[in-house]
Amino acid sequence: MAGARLDIQGLHKSFDFEGRRIDVLRGIDLLVEPGEMVAVVGASGAGKSTFLHVLGSLDTPTTGRIIIDGQDTVRFDSRRMAAFRNHTIGFVFQFHHLLPEFTAIENTAMPALISGLSRPEAEKRAVHLLERVGLSHRLAHRPGELSGGEQQRVALARALVMEPRLLLADEPTGNLDRRTGAAIHDLLLELNRERGMTLLVVTHNEDLAVRLARQVRMVEGRLVEDPLPSPAATSSQAKASDPPPPSGAAQGGAV
Ligand SMILES: Nc1ncnc2c1ncn2[C@@H]1O[C@H](COP(=O)(O)OP(=O)(O)OP(=O)(O)O)[C@@H](O)[C@H]1O
Ligand SMILES: [Mg+2]
Repeated sequence: MAGARLDIQGLHKSFDFEGRRIDVLRGIDLLVEPGEMVAVVGASGAGKSTFLHVLGSLDTPTTGRIIIDGQDTVRFDSRRMAAFRNHTIGFVFQFHHLLPEFTAIENTAMPALISGLSRPEAEKRAVHLLERVGLSHRLAHRPGELSGGEQQRVALARALVMEPRLLLADEPTGNLDRRTGAAIHDLLLELNRERGMTLLVVTHNEDLAVRLARQVRMVEGRLVEDPLPSPAATSSQAKASDPPPPSGAAQGGAV
C-alpha cells in the first residue's frame, strides 16, 4: 500500500472574530510525495493546528486547493469527504478528543466500526495497535481513567486503525516523557517503512523533527522549508543509520 500524495496550493484561512478578520493561513503551497515524512514546526499561535485541521477537512479553507492523490478534496460534499477521510486520513488531535464514555479499545475501534468492519475485526485491530503503543494493560480503561500521555497514545492508535495512507498528527508526543515519546517516534517511522504511509507531523519535539526527512516551518501563516542546522543534520544522519528498532519497542514506555 502506497502513501498518499498531497498537493496544497494557495491555501488561505481567515477567522472572523468580533468583527475583525484574522488571517491565520496566508498562502501555503506544499507538495508532499507519497511516503514522505514532514515535520511542521513553528511558534505557538503560528497556525499549525489550523493548517492540519484544514488539511484533514475538519475545517474549510477560505481559499485554496488541497489535492490528495489527484482529487481536490475541498470540492467534496460532506458525505464524500467523511468517507474519504475515514479510509485515507488518520488524524491525531493536539487535545485527543476521545469519547469519554468509551474504553480505550472502543475509542480505537470506532473508525473501523463506522467504516463497516465487524466488531470482532475492529476490536482485534484496536488491541493490536494499543499493544504497539504500549497500552496492552489499559485496554478497558475509559479516557478519565488514563493519564494524558496514555490518552494521547489511544488517540494515535485510533488514527491508525484504518491503516491510513496519510497521517496528520498534531503534537503526537507532546505529553510523553522522553522514553515513551521516542518509542512512539520509532512506531511512526516503522509504519512509514512498513506501509509507505505519508506523514505530516506538527511537533515542538526536536528529537522527532530531526528524524523526519523534511522540516517546514510555519511563520506568520506561511511555510518556509527549514534546512537543518548542521549539528541537527549530523545527528539525523546518525540516527537514520541506526539499526531499526525491534517491533513492539513502543511498549517500553508503558511501565
Ligand atoms: N476559531 C477561531 N477563531 C478565531 N481565531 C482562531 C480560531 N482558531 C484559531 N485561531 C487563532 O489562530 C491562530 C493560530 O492558532 P493555531 O491553533 O493554529 O496555532 P498553533 O500553531 O497550533 O499553536 P500551538 O503551537 O500553541 O498549538 C491563533 O492565534 C488563534 O488564536
Ligand atoms: Mg496547535
